[in-house]
Amino acid sequence: MSLTPVRPCLYTDQPDPAVGDPWPASARSTAGDVTVAGVGLAEAADRFGTPLYVLDEDEFRSRCRAYRTALPAAEVLYAAKAFLCSAVTRWAAEEGLGLDVCSEGELRLAAAAGFPPERIVLHGNAKSPAELRLARRLRVGRIVVDDLAEIPRIAALTSPTAPQRVLLRVVPGVAAGHHEAVRTGVTGQKFGLAVDDGEALDAVRRILAQPGLVLSGLHCHLGSQITTVEPYLTAVDRMAGLLAAVRDEHGLHLPELDLGGGHAVPYVPGDEALDLDEFAALVPVRLADACKRRRLDTPRLLIEPGRAIAAPAGVAVYRVLAVKHTSGGRIFAAVDGGMSDNPRPALYGARYSVRLVGRDSTAANREVDVVGRHCEAGDILVRGARLSADLRAGDLLAVPASGAYQLSMASGYNLVGRPAVAAVRDGRARLLIRRESVEDLLAREVDR
Ligand code: LLP
Repeated sequence: MSLTPVRPCLYTDQPDPAVGDPWPASARSTAGDVTVAGVGLAEAADRFGTPLYVLDEDEFRSRCRAYRTALPAAEVLYAAKAFLCSAVTRWAAEEGLGLDVCSEGELRLAAAAGFPPERIVLHGNAKSPAELRLARRLRVGRIVVDDLAEIPRIAALTSPTAPQRVLLRVVPGVAAGHHEAVRTGVTGQKFGLAVDDGEALDAVRRILAQPGLVLSGLHCHLGSQITTVEPYLTAVDRMAGLLAAVRDEHGLHLPELDLGGGHAVPYVPGDEALDLDEFAALVPVRLADACKRRRLDTPRLLIEPGRAIAAPAGVAVYRVLAVKHTSGGRIFAAVDGGMSDNPRPALYGARYSVRLVGRDSTAANREVDVVGRHCEAGDILVRGARLSADLRAGDLLAVPASGAYQLSMASGYNLVGRPAVAAVRDGRARLLIRRESVEDLLAREVDR
């Protein structure tokens, strides 16, 4: 099953609708609106208010299934940091995925939603003592060791009769990803232990010396929004080299290799995505070959996609509050959200596409900057968008590919509450997370 949907075009000036389409496969352009999973975005905006994040449940689920079908022998873990709520946790669980979490909040939410703890992997470069204790109490399947000092701390919570499986996060020296801030496969950044200088092998020795720890394998995460398979193939070779070094020193064939996430999706029409079929065709074969050459047992592959499952399932819907025509000829359409619900453009220069929904317009398109409501000139959601010249206050704008790293990184800037999230499926919409109200914000004020 491929992750590339083929269906009618949602942009009038999009050259080839099948290439790099950021919309969920169920999205349709109808008279005066866009529907997702049969639900009109304008209708959803009226019912739940704006800004609204609409999540296409079947898109999320079918992406989980596409991963499992493409890589039947691998363990696929959904990276919760992309976006987590109870419903999403259940969808991932029902589709047979594991879950990668990296905080007490993500762990407790998953546990409360009934996610099987043995399928949870706990990550983090700064796990608190409380997080480690909680992980042990909930019996999470694996904890990823990120640092030497963590080894005795985790070990202290175990015993030979109640052991803990751990993975060791290493830095394979592969640079990949859309922005420097997310390139984690190279040394000089905060995650994991370097392969080159022997740090990783030192960590292996220390883990193996702990009777309560079971080293089940190695982990690496190269970066995010990676468009080609090559970096993963290079990482496989380097990781196989390290697995062989572990075997040479300890006589151990580690049974698992986790390659992390990072698979790219399109944000604007024509954007390249990582080809899942190509990944599935090349990576396991490369791993098997690399292991065979070194006379190693081939470990089971684990992967942790977050964005590639969640981003295309989400559409953000905003209401235009003001349209400003400047004397310099620029047009700004200011909406009721912005960098507090989507910090990605400001943080990484991320590009998005945007579309008028809720009414048809025959006016020609003009270049418009869609800006947020926050107190910074850099609060620009979509720079140079093509939108109807008659765009006006009250209109609705929809931004596809909004399901990952927007709400999960949302802030309380300007005390604008975080948006509501609604799931859509089979022509029905239901609220998953209610809007954060001013009352919610005021409720945290202790000294009033
Ligand atoms: N595994 C680990 C250990 C990770 O650190 C991450 C993402 C993933 C898996 C999932 O990566 P994905 O498949 O979603 O690319 N806020 C940034 C992305 C940060 C990614 C952090 N780690 C952005 O909006 O582009």
